[in-house]
Amino acid sequence: MTNFRSDFPIFSTHPDLVYLDSAATSQKPQSVIDAVTDYLTTTNSNIHRGTYSIAEQSEDLYQQSKARFAQFIGWSSEAEVIYHYNATACFNLLAQSLVKSGILTPGDSMILGVPEHHANIVPRQMIAEQYNLTIRRLPIDENYTLDRSVLLSLIDDTTKVISLSAFSNVTGDMPDLSRVRQIVGDDIFFVIDGSQILGKYPINVTTLGADVLIGTAHKMFSLTGLGMLRMQKKRITSLTPARWGGWAIAEVTRDNYELQSDIHGREAGTPNVVGAVSLLAAIDYIDSIGWVEVISQHDQELTQYALERLQALPLCAIIGSDLSSFEKSVAPWQGGGPACGRGFLRGWVISFTLDTITKNALAQHCADHQIAIRCGGHCTFPFWHDIWIDGWCRISFHAYTTPKDIDILITTLRNL
Ligand SMILES: Cc1ncc(COP(=O)(O)O)c(C=O)c1O
Repeated sequence: MTNFRSDFPIFSTHPDLVYLDSAATSQKPQSVIDAVTDYLTTTNSNIHRGTYSIAEQSEDLYQQSKARFAQFIGWSSEAEVIYHYNATACFNLLAQSLVKSGILTPGDSMILGVPEHHANIVPRQMIAEQYNLTIRRLPIDENYTLDRSVLLSLIDDTTKVISLSAFSNVTGDMPDLSRVRQIVGDDIFFVIDGSQILGKYPINVTTLGADVLIGTAHKMFSLTGLGMLRMQKKRITSLTPARWGGWAIAEVTRDNYELQSDIHGREAGTPNVVGAVSLLAAIDYIDSIGWVEVISQHDQELTQYALERLQALPLCAIIGSDLSSFEKSVAPWQGGGPACGRGFLRGWVISFTLDTITKNALAQHCADHQIAIRCGGHCTFPFWHDIWIDGWCRISFHAYTTPKDIDILITTLRNL
């Protein structure tokens, strides 16, 4: 199994670290760290306003980053990519704009998957309260997969928006979003939370017909503080700016202002240029190791291995589909098309409980052995309430995770 551990200097600093918390944030490859250091050493300057050389270089890098990201998600135009603080900020921006643009009006309904992250849920709950909207929840089936068979029954004339995660941060489920698009038709505004899938599995917004894709750079080898929102140009003008101020305006008079109509009107103030540089370098890194498919392949092999080993532990329950999903892996990858090869139903996030120990004690025991895992409800409290489990432990991988990491975890769990 290929792994890229040596590309990540954190493992030289902490050779015994067993990092199984990549769903929280990914580690950073040396090339991204170098690109950031190089930028700060040679080019650091603000963008948009300078005519001197390093300001122009910074501007160029910022735009290159967006163009590369657009290409990365199967889109051609950087003019439809907005950078914000993180995925959560993007979801907040979007929620308000759906109302302002008239896509959602009082009495309308939105569909969310049961295992959605709070970032996707809470901003919608807030607009629901403010504007008399309803949230309908797409349930999961016995395999913890979104139950598409009931999707049609949730839709009526009031349904205007559906928003689903391409990859659950709890179950590792990757619902077949192309099928969802086919079922709901073209008239419903389709939002995809790509926070956990970007950089691990191919995703193509064009073939998926997604109206919006949201992601967060720190989970794909880049710095924290950068969220990405790709939205069709015709919708961008309806976005309520999340920040008001410099650069966002076309004109300001003593008493009034006029916003820029394009994405600049949605990125007031100094953007996260260093974050953008890091994302550009991260995509270059993914390119250098053979593109996302190589990471997906690594992930599938490791997930299968980890499930085999965890399922062999006495009294261990997996919260998500188990090994049997590997035999059933026939779903097309998220809009990647045939070129991406065979699809998979679940990936590299595994949540579990052990009947012999509480989740907190288990996570602490792991921490005592330099194993980084996470316990709790993982920002999916409605899901937690639905399945009646008082939290769980979660392990998650990335390109640098090795079978040895899994072996150390299992030995530690066996010695409890
Ligand atoms: C599925 C999913 N969506 C959204 C987010 C929010 O990302 P951020 O905290 O970077 O805004 C997360 C973070 O864990 C996530 O797992």
